[in-house]
Parts: sequence; structure tokens; C-alpha cells
Amino acid sequence: MFDTMVITKAVAALCGALLVFLLGNWAASAIYVPRNANAPQAFIIDTGADDVAAEPVAELTFEEAFEIADAGAGARLWSQCRACHALEAGRNGVGPYLHGVVNREIGAVDGFNYSGALNQAGEIWTPEALSAFIENPSVVTPGTSMSFRGIANVQDRANLIAYMESES
Ligand code: HEC
Repeated sequence: MFDTMVITKAVAALCGALLVFLLGNWAASAIYVPRNANAPQAFIIDTGADDVAAEPVAELTFEEAFEIADAGAGARLWSQCRACHALEAGRNGVGPYLHGVVNREIGAVDGFNYSGALNQAGEIWTPEALSAFIENPSVVTPGTSMSFRGIANVQDRANLIAYMESES
């Protein structure tokens, strides 16, 4: 039953089919693939989509943040300090009382046992100095006994300092 002719015809059918696919592919490529498919774009339509991402995120300086500071918002942040500090004058806790701390002399509360790390006799807590300290106490003032991880957001610090100022 499988004589030479049958095998020849089967092989021929296979080859013929492959040839049809090959020619089909060749014809399709000739029709549909543009010859300059890899050429640079002739013109670019600006949809504005890139501009949004390119806009720089403006980081406020402390001065700018302090100018628009919201003491009300700072009141909520005070909860991070009240475990150790009081705003009433004379009431020391784990930390010295912070009544009038803005523009107060550094490390000058009577009867509080400072670590000595703040150690800037005669200098005062300007809003800028407070902001720098609160951002990361242990980095700005190595050896301080104030174990507080800090407040990274500049507007939060400005709001909190405005609150302490308004409460004093
Ligand atoms: C875990 C307790 C703790 C927390 C929480 C804490 N502090 Fe303090 N703070 C201290 C201690 C202790 C000192 C004294 C540091 C020293 O002597 O080195 C201090 C010192 C300070 C001083 C210097 C005062 C001075 O008389 O010179 C300021 C200002 C201050 N803290 C602000 C803050 C603020 C604002 C917060 C909240 C964001 C805060 N602290 C949270 C414990 C704390």
C-alpha cells in the first residue's frame, strides 16, 4: 500500500503547503510592512503628556513654610511632644517645659538636668534652629537625651513651631 508513489505524493504535498506559506508570508510583508519602518519620526505631536511629569516638585524652604504656618494644624502634632514636654511654664517632665521656647535661650530651663549635648550657651532657639533640631534631634545634636525620631515634613515642623509660639 505504501508504494513509492504514495510517499512521493505525501512529501510533495507537504513541500507544496510549506511553499504556499512561504509565498504568503513574502507577499504579506511586501504589502504591509512599510519600507521605512525603522526611520526616525518625521514629526512629533506634542500631547503635553510629558510636561506633567517633568514639573519639578517644589520643596518649601523653612522660611516659606513658616510664613504660611497653621498653628491649628500644629496643635495636632503637639501630641508627639506632650509625653515628655509641657507647655506650661515651670512644668518639667522627661523634657524641659517648652513655654516660650521660641526665641528662648537654649538649654536654660532652671531645675532641668540637661544632657549637655545642646550645649550652645547664650544661643537662642530661633524658629530655624528649632526646625533643624526637631527634624532629627539625635543627628543634629549627637548625644542629646531627647529620644525622638524627628518630623521629616518641613510644613509640619513650621506648623508645630507656630503652635508652640501661639500657646506661649
Ligand atoms: C521621649 C521624650 C521626648 C519627646 C517625645 C520629645 N522630647 Fe524634646 N526633649 C526631651 C529631652 C529629654 C530634652 C532635653 C535634651 C537634652 O538635654 O539633650 C528635650 C529637649 C527639647 C528642646 C530643647 C529645650 C531647651 O530648653 O533648650 C526642645 C526645643 C524640644 N525638646 C522640643 C521637642 C518637640 C517640639 C517635640 C515634639 C515634636 C519633642 N521635643 C519631643 C524629651 C523629649
